[in-house]
Amino acid sequence: MSIKSYFMAKVYDRSMRGMECACLAEWRANLLSQAEGDVLEIGSGTGGNLSYFSDSVSNLVLSEPDPHMRVQLIEKAEKNYRGEYCVKPCGADEIDLPNGSFDAVVSTLVLCSVPSQSASLAEIRRLLRPGGALFFIEHVVASDDPGLFRWQRFWNRFWVFMCGNCHLTRDTEQAILDAGLEFESIDRTRSNGGPAIVSSWIRGIARKPT
Ligand SMILES: C[S@@+](CC[C@H](N)C(=O)[O-])C[C@H]1O[C@@H](n2cnc3c(N)ncnc32)[C@H](O)[C@@H]1O
Repeated sequence: MSIKSYFMAKVYDRSMRGMECACLAEWRANLLSQAEGDVLEIGSGTGGNLSYFSDSVSNLVLSEPDPHMRVQLIEKAEKNYRGEYCVKPCGADEIDLPNGSFDAVVSTLVLCSVPSQSASLAEIRRLLRPGGALFFIEHVVASDDPGLFRWQRFWNRFWVFMCGNCHLTRDTEQAILDAGLEFESIDRTRSNGGPAIVSSWIRGIARKPT
């Protein structure tokens, strides 16, 4: 793994602090308290979601492909997470588990960074039980704001290079629909406390049809 990913993992929590305090922590708490049963989190990063899961989660699988992120994830889980969990060292499109293993999949700030949204979302759909839910918080293309969209397009290549393949211009809402999931709730919103080019977000729940 590269020096860049080592430093990204080192500074990740600190670099997110402004946005966490301004809005993200509240979004995580509101959304993730609803997850229950067998839950898979993709791209768990440094474990920023761990404190928001409720006792209704019976088994938690945390997957994270980056070894530097994973070190912090394991430390946080060992210290703070009381329930049953395991950590898988893999990406969202290579979870080696049977179809329909999960009641819920959690993706927060991950679908911007995966190499292929369609491959990751196909795997999420495969792993969900019928009626199971994808809980998502993702920054997305500012399709409702042409001025901001121009800035996102301008900075995108640099951002992808500097920030671990994080894309500014992905239409994740459409990608979720294209994967055959149905929105139960979706909030298209703006964030505070971070750079304007990542201020356009979607958060909510999408279900695999029964
Ligand atoms: C911006 S961080 C988000 C971390 C965490 N989910 C959060 O909410 O703070 C993006 C994460 O996606 C992970 N990632 C990158 N490629 C991935 C893939 N193919 N599958 C799953 N996760 C991936 C990165 O290693 C990183 O931990």
